[in-house]
Amino acid sequence: MRELALHILDVLENAIEAGATRIEVSITEDTARDRLTIVVADNGRGMDEDVVQRASDPFFTTRQTRHVGLGLPLLRAAALRCHGELTIRSQPGAGTRLTVTLQRSHIDRPPLGDMPGTLLGALLSQRAFDLRFEHHIDGRVFAFDTVAMRQALQGVPFAHPAVRTWLHEFLTEGYAALHERIEGRA
Ligand SMILES: Nc1ncnc2c1ncn2[C@@H]1O[C@H](COP(=O)(O)OP(=O)(O)OP(=O)(O)O)[C@@H](O)[C@H]1O
Ligand SMILES: [Mg+2]
Repeated sequence: MRELALHILDVLENAIEAGATRIEVSITEDTARDRLTIVVADNGRGMDEDVVQRASDPFFTTRQTRHVGLGLPLLRAAALRCHGELTIRSQPGAGTRLTVTLQRSHIDRPPLGDMPGTLLGALLSQRAFDLRFEHHIDGRVFAFDTVAMRQALQGVPFAHPAVRTWLHEFLTEGYAALHERIEGRA
């Protein structure tokens, strides 16, 4: 079964393909309402209404290398299987905002999967873009913005071995803390 992290990677790739220089990802898990929501907003080239309509059709792609686009149809199918939906709001020249909701406890809900690995891969990709990321689980949050990270690094690239090691630890520890049970509290 596919992981949500791989779907998120697909959506990030679409945004990067669309020339986005700024991407904002938010994942929200609300255990009381039993919802898992993923929002990805980018400032790429956007799509007109016709392309938005067709973007979740498995036979539509603007890719030149192959003639079916599968990323969004698979994500929509996963959402629909889990009493959720995928919606896309987009404007040519302005950007795209994609929202996916799923029933968190649904038996078919794909696991989140390796988010630290997915994020590290995206941050180390050759294409320069800034990422604001946040993952909320009830009251807890793990968040970062690469704009602040790049400022602190003063020109040292993410791919520098020491930075890469630091990023890996930052992401894995951030995720570990997010999932840690807060002992001794209600
Ligand atoms: N964020 C976005 N900005 C602009 N256009 C987008 C965006 N996301 C998707 N699209 C358009 O929708 C089409 C379908 O996307 P989808 O991810 O389903 O397939 P693909 O990226 O073409 O191929 P695949 O994901 O299978 O490699 C894309 O080819 C692109 O034209
Ligand atoms: Mg795609």
